[in-house]
Amino acid sequence: MTVLHLRAAGVSLVLDARGASAPTVVHWGSDLGDLDANVLAALADAAVPAVPPSSIDVPLRLSLWPSLAEGWTGRPALAGHRQGVPAPALRLLDVQVQEQAATVRGESADGSLELTTVLELSAEGVLRVRHRLLNRGAGDFDLAGLDVRLPIPEQAAELLDFTGLWAHERQPQRTPLRHGVWSRESRHGRPGHDDAFLLMAGVPGFGFRSGQVWAVHLAFSGDKTLHAERSALGHGCLGGGELLAPGEVRLAPGETYETPWLVAVHSATGIDGLSDRLHPWIRARATLRHPRPVVLNTWEAVYFDHDLAVLTDLADAAAEAGVERFVLDDGWFTGRRDDRRALGDWQVDPSVWPDGLHPLISRVHAAGMEFGLWVEPEMISPDSQLAREHPSWVLGGGTGHTWRWQRVLDLGNPEAYACLRDRLVALLTEYPIAFLKWDHNRDLLTPGSAHRQTTALYRLLAELKAAFPDVEIESCASGGARIDLGILDLVDRFWTSDTNDPLDRQSIQRWTSVLIPPEYLGGHLGDATAHVTGRHSALGFRLATALFGSAGIEWNLTTATPAERAEIAAWIAEYKRLRPLLHSGTVVRADSPDPALRLHGVVAQDRTAALFALVSLGSPRSALPPPARFPGLDPDRRYTVRPIGTPPRTVQDAPPAWLRTGEATLPGRVLAEAGLPVPLLAPEQALLLEVTETP
Ligand code: DGJ
Repeated sequence: MTVLHLRAAGVSLVLDARGASAPTVVHWGSDLGDLDANVLAALADAAVPAVPPSSIDVPLRLSLWPSLAEGWTGRPALAGHRQGVPAPALRLLDVQVQEQAATVRGESADGSLELTTVLELSAEGVLRVRHRLLNRGAGDFDLAGLDVRLPIPEQAAELLDFTGLWAHERQPQRTPLRHGVWSRESRHGRPGHDDAFLLMAGVPGFGFRSGQVWAVHLAFSGDKTLHAERSALGHGCLGGGELLAPGEVRLAPGETYETPWLVAVHSATGIDGLSDRLHPWIRARATLRHPRPVVLNTWEAVYFDHDLAVLTDLADAAAEAGVERFVLDDGWFTGRRDDRRALGDWQVDPSVWPDGLHPLISRVHAAGMEFGLWVEPEMISPDSQLAREHPSWVLGGGTGHTWRWQRVLDLGNPEAYACLRDRLVALLTEYPIAFLKWDHNRDLLTPGSAHRQTTALYRLLAELKAAFPDVEIESCASGGARIDLGILDLVDRFWTSDTNDPLDRQSIQRWTSVLIPPEYLGGHLGDATAHVTGRHSALGFRLATALFGSAGIEWNLTTATPAERAEIAAWIAEYKRLRPLLHSGTVVRADSPDPALRLHGVVAQDRTAALFALVSLGSPRSALPPPARFPGLDPDRRYTVRPIGTPPRTVQDAPPAWLRTGEATLPGRVLAEAGLPVPLLAPEQALLLEVTETP
């Protein structure tokens, strides 16, 4: 066997797979260049550490399958037992290499377990790793956990991951990586509002534009862990895997368990460098259709108050503004007059819609828009026909707490699954529905159910996608509680958060888009007084915030003034002009010494154009804030910078000189290094700056 070297886009992964012991990743990080077999062997030899006092008598290396038997006393990769006998250690069987991928197979000494690890390095430098465990023994094997682990060097001493709440998803938190384990665990049965999301380890102080960073994400929508560990001996690693409850995965002889992919990214140039690998990788794999339509969602416009005349007026107003997809949110199905009942009864309510949804859909279509519909398929209300007819289909037998007055439908029950699928198929067959907003508004809270429920959900989504390939699906979970790369393979949009308050949205979108390309992230223009926070925001700030995503409206446009409607229509026209750039370009975020001021943007792949937003979240620290330094442009080309969109409110006696003339033309290097003085924005304002190459 051999020392493997996977290389792509400035990333190297070197795996020492010599001998019979578990293979070891000896390097994952910046590209090491083109190394021949001799150099690779020398590199692997040189990576063998000293033997410290009071330790095992051979050098300890952190392998791909770390275990006690190796002398590793940190978290093991594989945990489980067969009738009380713990999982044995694994030894290497064989290795196969295809292009930039390796498949490594190992087995336990008694031959009862076989573990296969697949490592793939994409053309963009994104590494993904998963294990597959086969029970070759005679009896059942109870799996307690199977994690993927990747080494990080000692300079990766600061962690950044996320926490959050409903309407406050993706709040970043930093912590030093000391000796021990930093473990983030989701037991919500969905990733949750506090999902760790992307666990980064970098050189202390790493920013958007500087510092080496290693990061991992688990592509899975159920219970899971992401963790970072540094042992007292000095070994460090990032890892993750599905969180399994006792007895949740029991492998009968011949059965296999496959872990979700651990997606792992390295950047030598800060957090933006992670996005710059992840976004092109996701875009290359996914089949998202473009252009992404402008949406009007009825939720904050009418809530449960469904009325054909009102909704028809709203559809007309939406079409007049330029909306392309009209989405009827919660409240359309039998008995659903509030959030306390009816989930599961997925038939159109005849008391509200005597002619079904046809009159509304016809009007929506006549106005040139597509029609979308809200559903929450995995749920069941105790007060529903479905629950009354099939009480045994309620997960956990209907015990435990309700949450938003609802319970969970047991998708692991084949009859419940089939009934749900058939109801959804009936809806999609009867109505010309282009889009489903697929919601999930509670944690499962039933021990041992998350694996079964999540895999059944994936199966259901895949079945519906196969049967209705033109129907797009949005993943929503009380806002952004289910945003991950597992479900992304099956959906076309994420509802980023239930808050449409632009101030909160600035942060939520900024951080969610580190992992997810902005064209997936729903961002809606809401009411002037945000429904979730009660904060009042200027129209221009709301528009500039919703622009950087999959844009839409969630506001009763019929109550907007003619001037507001004209401004919204102009914004939609600008969005349509800019969306090819916004939905394919490189996302950039400047590091700012002042937390009240931000500059973020999208630069075209060919770097001929860009759109930036200068955003004030509050009052600046100094009367004259630092200049806007534009990241991501070609240093050797000249660009013209000019403001577009709704002019922001300022607190200044005169704008900077360049804005008085209306534009500035300078080389990209000057714009990045010296920058341009900024106008003195009032709090909660945004200035949009369009940048175009000027020969
Ligand atoms: C929660 C979602 O996040 C909202 O956007 C809305 O669809 C409601 N559910 C409807 O009940």
